[in-house]
Amino acid sequence: MDTDVTYLGKVIRVDSSTVEVEISDEIPSSAPIINGRLYKIGQIGTFVKMPMGNITIYGIVSSVSNTSSKDDESQIKQIVGSRFLSVQLVGEKIGDDDFEKGIGTYPTINDEVHIVIEKDLFDIYGEKGSGSIEIGKHSSSDNLSVYVDIHKLILRHCAILGSTGSGKSNTTVSILKAILNEYVGSRVMLVDPHGEYSSAFPTANSFKINDIKSPLYIPFWLMTFDELAFFLVGAKPSDDQKVEYRLLREWVTNYKKEHYVLKSGNVNPDFITADSPIPFSARKLWYDMNWRLNATFSEASKDKHTKATVQEISAGDHSQFKPAEFEPYSMGNAAPYKSQHKEFYSYEKKLLSRLKDSRYDFMFDPGDYKDHNSPKDLHHLLKDWIGSDNKLAILDLSGVPFEVLDIAIGLITRFVYDSMFWGRNESYTGKSRPLLLAYEEAHTYLNKNDNFSYSKTAVERIFKEGRKFGVGALVISQRPSEISETILAQLGTLIALRLTNSSDQSIIKSSSPDNLNSLIDLLPSLRIGEAVIVGESIKIPSRVRIKLNNPRPASGDPELVECWSKEHKAEVDDYKSVVTKIREQRT
Ligand SMILES: Nc1ncnc2c1ncn2[C@@H]1O[C@H](COP(=O)(O)OP(=O)(O)OP(=O)(O)O)[C@@H](O)[C@H]1O
Ligand SMILES: [Mg+2]
Repeated sequence: MDTDVTYLGKVIRVDSSTVEVEISDEIPSSAPIINGRLYKIGQIGTFVKMPMGNITIYGIVSSVSNTSSKDDESQIKQIVGSRFLSVQLVGEKIGDDDFEKGIGTYPTINDEVHIVIEKDLFDIYGEKGSGSIEIGKHSSSDNLSVYVDIHKLILRHCAILGSTGSGKSNTTVSILKAILNEYVGSRVMLVDPHGEYSSAFPTANSFKINDIKSPLYIPFWLMTFDELAFFLVGAKPSDDQKVEYRLLREWVTNYKKEHYVLKSGNVNPDFITADSPIPFSARKLWYDMNWRLNATFSEASKDKHTKATVQEISAGDHSQFKPAEFEPYSMGNAAPYKSQHKEFYSYEKKLLSRLKDSRYDFMFDPGDYKDHNSPKDLHHLLKDWIGSDNKLAILDLSGVPFEVLDIAIGLITRFVYDSMFWGRNESYTGKSRPLLLAYEEAHTYLNKNDNFSYSKTAVERIFKEGRKFGVGALVISQRPSEISETILAQLGTLIALRLTNSSDQSIIKSSSPDNLNSLIDLLPSLRIGEAVIVGESIKIPSRVRIKLNNPRPASGDPELVECWSKEHKAEVDDYKSVVTKIREQRT
């Protein structure tokens, strides 16, 4: 018998990446103590190793049974409760080289199999190398730090997935904190639809819709023409045959071309289209539509309905939604004549009501970014979002009406991506200063069942092409089975927390970058804050405990028992403020 205390048994079957191991009859205990630590043989998810001369092959126990898959005799010896282990091979270590994923040499029948002890794990994970961050401690040992390679974590994209309350937000905070603390030139933009992260990052640049101190503005003129027409007047690209749609496109193009002298630099008007992100006044658009519909003229002929013949009493003020006033048209065939331009009849009212809806002010009345005369331009927005000294910008979208969340995230993502694409060779951005975009609650706006979604289109582009221009993405979600397949297919690293729903589990299995079903099968039984991490950025697929951060994201459960244990008294008037908040959609 092999006297090595770590000796476990022998390989009895090899099958591409799985081997079957027969546990020796003669091992002294099913729970040996080695160097003062207790090891339990045959625990799913634990590692075993197969030394073969200079090479050591590592694998993960994926199933344990009393019968071998080739064993149909019934003389089963009960030594450690179970006799056969299925082991998924994960990687190998040659001599003193670092551990590497993937198998070059396979074990053969009768090769020895040993328990992996703490020292082996230290050898695998090694010291903290440059370019890595500590993500947590290995589940099997509080002393064993697990590191991830941040280059791969970020530029090959990653996801944090798990049921509600499994610890996703806390994991996100852990990762971002490690990045921000260790890398002075890092930069991260976090899309936060529930407004939970400002409390965890008190020094970050935090912007919030309708906030007085640091408002988040997403100027409407970042939209393409089709998006703008849809959000301003409900028109669809299929309306392209309609005269009003084409006229609107012409007007928007003209406004943009007129305003080519811009704070961030002049633009050649020849290159300006209806889609160019150039400021113009939405109120002026409404005012001009109103003028065209309601003006009266001294001449009867439609061709002469111009400023020269208009019968205007007062000019009004577009910034105050005050329309121009005109002489009333006469009933008979006499001046003043009524305008014959009725194209914008339906658009004008829709536009006015949209512009007056205060819930949309962050887009259609965007403070310092309102129009071409406003003090700020897009370079200020970039500086705030991705260029600040605080390295992290939190875009708190908790005040955004659900139906505009999609376009808001779509615009933010597209604009930031464009800045990285077109700025890819600049010294201060693009490839010279990569950017991580993190998306919380991703299933709500990156949903695979939505036929069309602005945010999904924009985020998928990052997953497909961002790496080349220095843009990486992190998605966080409790419903992986609802997330866009394009996104899941491009994940380099997957951080899976406890997950109970079986359709979510099978999605994780199929999109897991390393084919390691044995670890994924552990998902329902993980503890809160414990994760299985697989993929390019981690040396070996691992089960990791993530520490609880302080300060925390504002996502903790309410203290139900405590709250219900004390008596509450509320008068009818106390509910007034809640109603006002519902009406104003702000907390
Ligand atoms: N690593 C951890 N260690 C101990 N407790 C944790 C850990 N992570 C999270 N928790 C606990 O679980 C609670 C929920 O965590 P968290 O908000 O991160 O979950 P979540 O997955 O983001 O949930 P949701 O899907 O609702 O956003 C926390 O308030 C905290 O009490
Ligand atoms: Mg959360």
